Amino acid sequence: MKYLKLSLLLVIPIILNSCMATSKKTEAPEIASQIEFADKQLSLLLAVAEQENNIPRTLDANGNMHWIHKRFDWTEGFYPGSNWYLYELTKNEKWKIAAEKFQSIFESHKNYTTNHDLGFVFNCSYGNGYRLTGNEEFKNVMITAGNSLITRFDPTVGCIKSWDVEKGWQSTRGWKFPVIIDNMMNLELLFELSKITGDTKYQNVAIAHADTTLKNHFRKDNSSYHVIDYDPETGAVRNKHTAQGYAHESSWARGQAWGIYGYTVCYRYTKNPIYLKQAEKIANFIINYPGTPEDGIPYWDYNAPNIPNEPRDVSAAAVTVSALIELDGYSKESYLPAINKIMNSLASPKYTAKLGENKNFLLKHSVGSIPHNNEIDVPLNYADYYYLEALSRYKNYSK
Ligand code: GLY
Repeated sequence: MKYLKLSLLLVIPIILNSCMATSKKTEAPEIASQIEFADKQLSLLLAVAEQENNIPRTLDANGNMHWIHKRFDWTEGFYPGSNWYLYELTKNEKWKIAAEKFQSIFESHKNYTTNHDLGFVFNCSYGNGYRLTGNEEFKNVMITAGNSLITRFDPTVGCIKSWDVEKGWQSTRGWKFPVIIDNMMNLELLFELSKITGDTKYQNVAIAHADTTLKNHFRKDNSSYHVIDYDPETGAVRNKHTAQGYAHESSWARGQAWGIYGYTVCYRYTKNPIYLKQAEKIANFIINYPGTPEDGIPYWDYNAPNIPNEPRDVSAAAVTVSALIELDGYSKESYLPAINKIMNSLASPKYTAKLGENKNFLLKHSVGSIPHNNEIDVPLNYADYYYLEALSRYKNYSK
């Protein structure tokens, strides 16, 4: 009895301490100060972008600014999109002017039919612009982009083809009809177009794509493959591969983030409980993955070979937390502890740059593609975009 009392005396403070530490991590983040900081930091970035008349994407290996490829760049919509979120958050007209100016740089890409990224590009830019201003010209750009995107849909496969395979590194993999989990992110443009035009052709494509992806992209543990290669003659699955992950059977962190975000969006527009369930299953994988560090920011691949000596991917965390905030509003589950943990981590000096540092991007420590030896441990314009979206969503959070 004496020993029991003594050990309780020793153990109770430890338990209390660890509970206090956990509750501190999961208490509400300071959204207002993060928005204020984002306004200041991205004002510095805006001055540089104005001077160059170009869209910042990331930093190169020497720490110099890497601008988008003006011919077409899947990330080009995020920077104007961030400006739209800052306009929404601050009501300062300068952000609206900047968003309009920078999205006009790539307006002509609305006619591109050579890849699947038009949803990313035009929904994050013109889509936010239309949402916030109702400008009919923005809507017309979105319609043209959506019409270009659905030319890549193949009814035999039931998917939008992600990449062409005739040239570039994609031609070296032996694929015929590759579809990547990222492609779930292009569906929001299509759902939105059916909503604002009344034409169901866009949403029919989105639903078919989401259903085929649900059937073939996921493993038993609810993690996803990166690339599913289909036979366009029969619709059969030829290969289950990776391109940006560590291995075919590993779980690439941003791929899981695209999945949870994509199925949450599908539920938003369709209210189909199958999509809600899928988003919840992916959330469960992400939140409860045993190897994820205590701060909730994942390694670039859940199965990367040298954990804990592997880069984190802040972009995956930013996409995930934005999706979780929306998902929390639909689900009976409560994701608030995970949301607060990730938001607090992202706001910490470990991941948020100091004013004027990080070439004026907001967040540090993202990964583009390790297998391509490209953009490793750098800021990325899409990490900033989804973080601003998360700040905006958190500001309006209610359950
Ligand atoms: N393809 C988009 C990405 O790198 O996540």
